[in-house]
Amino acid sequence: MRILVTGAVGFIGAHVCHALLDQGCVVSGLDNLNSYYDPALKHARLAHLEARPGFDFTARDLADAKALDGLGPFDVIVHLAAQAGVRYSLEAPFAYLDSNLKGHLSVLEYVRHAETRPFLVYASSSSVYGDTTPAPFREDARCDAPVSLYAATKRGAEMLSESYGALYDIAQVGLRFFTVYGPWGRPDMAYYAFAQAMLENRPITVFNHGDLMRDFTWIDDIVDGVTRIALAGPDGGNGAGRTHRIYNIGNNRPERLMDFIGALETALGLTAEKIMTGMAPGDVHMTSANIDAISADYGFEPTTTITDGLPRFAAWLKAWRAGDASSWRY
Ligand SMILES: NC(=O)c1ccc[n+]([C@@H]2O[C@H](COP(=O)([O-])OP(=O)(O)OC[C@H]3O[C@@H](n4cnc5c(N)ncnc54)[C@H](O)[C@@H]3O)[C@@H](O)[C@H]2O)c1
Repeated sequence: MRILVTGAVGFIGAHVCHALLDQGCVVSGLDNLNSYYDPALKHARLAHLEARPGFDFTARDLADAKALDGLGPFDVIVHLAAQAGVRYSLEAPFAYLDSNLKGHLSVLEYVRHAETRPFLVYASSSSVYGDTTPAPFREDARCDAPVSLYAATKRGAEMLSESYGALYDIAQVGLRFFTVYGPWGRPDMAYYAFAQAMLENRPITVFNHGDLMRDFTWIDDIVDGVTRIALAGPDGGNGAGRTHRIYNIGNNRPERLMDFIGALETALGLTAEKIMTGMAPGDVHMTSANIDAISADYGFEPTTTITDGLPRFAAWLKAWRAGDASSWRY
């Protein structure tokens, strides 16, 4: 199977590429290697991928409508490229329109005009549920009150997919990811920033005085779900017959932020100095996934708890900071 992965040197994308290569797929990765966070991390992920047979890489920006010209054919596209992060959308709003809406449309247009239509699996986000959806979040919630521009662009991309599904009969699955963590993770995410601060003896800033809950999902559980769907196709189960389906993909075990910080302290063998502060703009109080649909249709079952996952993240982070992340798996 020939698969295009966009955002291939991002956190989730790189792990998905490895998993698809493990399954014997031929994988083309695409990414614009932007500097939203340390590009050295993206280049290191790329080096691990380029060492593997069956992988090739193209550096392009999906905001360019012609970014995918000349690539393919592909059986599947796993579209993960995006401008991520809730807080940065307050500073750089146009980056979100470019990557998350124009970029999404570039992919849809490519699929629409492709001679053999690839099946499209794309990333959305739990942030589309905003701060008023009752937990645990179900896919049929209205999702019309985003509290960040990031969330608005992710919901907008879902709407673009819905319209293209109806207009052009494009088979698609959208996945609403819930806070993903693990080795080779994203430095802008709170768990990573907390760990860096602890290792550097700096205090951590805990928003909403720690009264937040997150459905933290271990990277391998997410990757298992993404690859299952990519390989099974749109007719993986009850979804048969619908051109566009959206699923939650999360852990359905929300953790209190303070418990998560405690588990991170244990994993690192350190105690954090905590500065307690108010709610951050654009943030939500709780994320919690109802995963009945993806479990029924694709057999998705996350298994990793934070006490299993965080020590593996901590081992990777220490190795990476020591300039010794020569292995991909931790
Ligand atoms: N990590 C999470 O917890 C989480 C939660 C919800 C949703 N998501 C979504 O999952 C996907 C992957 O997230 P991630 O955590 O791996 O983020 P990431 O930032 O590590 O990866 C995204 C990659 O996309 C690339 N990219 C951005 N804009 C691009 C463009 N215009 N053209 C080409 N490449 C571009 C970036 O360089 C980056 O390598 C994103 O769509 C994100 O919105 C992630």
